[in-house]
Amino acid sequence: MARRFLIAANWKMHPPPDGWEASDSPYRTTGAVDVVVFPTALDIASVASAEHGITVGGQCGHPEASGAHTGDISMAMLVKHGCRYVLCGHSERRRDHGETDAFIATQAVAALEAGLHPIVCVGETKEERAQGKAKAIVKKQIARLPHGGITIAYEPVWAINTGVSALPRDAEEMHVFIRGLLPKESRNATRILYGGSVNDLNVKDLLREPDINGFLIGGASLKPVNFRAIVAAAATVES
Ligand code: PGA
Repeated sequence: MARRFLIAANWKMHPPPDGWEASDSPYRTTGAVDVVVFPTALDIASVASAEHGITVGGQCGHPEASGAHTGDISMAMLVKHGCRYVLCGHSERRRDHGETDAFIATQAVAALEAGLHPIVCVGETKEERAQGKAKAIVKKQIARLPHGGITIAYEPVWAINTGVSALPRDAEEMHVFIRGLLPKESRNATRILYGGSVNDLNVKDLLREPDINGFLIGGASLKPVNFRAIVAAAATVES
């Protein structure tokens, strides 16, 4: 597969960073790299506004189209407000909202039906890795997902927001494992992102790994200078 990277900025529960709408905003897709931004639900409409030319996604979406689900937003509502992507199963959603693998799979299906591209997050905890269970956990998280049309983000829980990224060779090993679990028809076309304490310094080594097709970035995506450097680094890698 051609190595056109996807760099996703997960702003989590933070306002859009200063300069996001500047004429030289680093949050736009470039000639060489796809960029998508995940603002809070309240900021989606303004960031997705056509005048800015920014590709936007929702941080989560409910599988049902409407109904009695206080605090939730449906996939169709995300589309209506300008989203093209949605995150499914981020570990912070699993932790804070009890999202299960089964629920996450229904979100991914609903996203596809609504015309959104789901980025499904998987990854093991520190204890699971220490016990040698990392691959078994990830396999279980992937088992029920739709067979194509999705992106997967491998985000080891111990690497998120800790300043400790996975070693490039360990991330690559898991990406190869994940790719091998995907159905043959979609295996090579599916982008597998790495996430967990990616920054402008460690990104260069991660970019060298052939099965890493982009990144899901939290902390560093809130610093436009650092985010710009990450996108620029991805643009220099030969496809
Ligand atoms: P981080 O977050 O880059 O701050 O580790 C990544 C994520 O949670 O998607």
